[in-house]
Amino acid sequence: MTLKRLSVVLLACLTLSACGGVDPNSPLGQRKAIFKQMLKTGEDLGGMLRGRIPFDGPRFTEGAIRLDNLSREPWKHFPQVKEQEHTSATDDVWQKQARFQELARALEAATGELVIASKVQPYKASNLGPAVQKVEDACSACHKEFRDH
Ligand code: HEC
Repeated sequence: MTLKRLSVVLLACLTLSACGGVDPNSPLGQRKAIFKQMLKTGEDLGGMLRGRIPFDGPRFTEGAIRLDNLSREPWKHFPQVKEQEHTSATDDVWQKQARFQELARALEAATGELVIASKVQPYKASNLGPAVQKVEDACSACHKEFRDH
């Protein structure tokens, strides 16, 4: 392996954090990367409300739009048959598809509402708490039912 190729691989590992045996281009690698971006984006929004990051209305809206777009992405990367390893998805994802999809739609609805709330002017962090909470609740509702740990 040339040095250049090696650094490309290393870089892919760093940006996707999808190493440790998971091919970043596989459905599993792709959905894990999307979930991680969702976490990071959501944390930045929460951080702006809690004062960890200075509140900036337009930047908050941008983040909300990014999260809304991301929230539509993971589902297509759950293949027909569950992977054998490295996944923390429970068998129920495949056995209770209707319920899984219902919770996916609930997240999409919550992020959609967050985008709308984030555009209300004048921008005020104090208006956005309930909408962010609803998104966080949608994440944990699904993890409780469909993620192992
Ligand atoms: C409809 C269900 C569902 C919703 C909603 C959902 N997740 Fe997940 N999430 C999962 C499942 C299933 C996994 C396990 C994926 C795997 O390992 O195959 C997961 C895994 C993750 C992971 C771990 C990724 C890794 O590297 O292993 C993170 C981080 C995460 N989700 C963040 C979020 C955040 C943040 C939200 C809300 C903004 C969210 N999820 C909403 C189902 C969901």
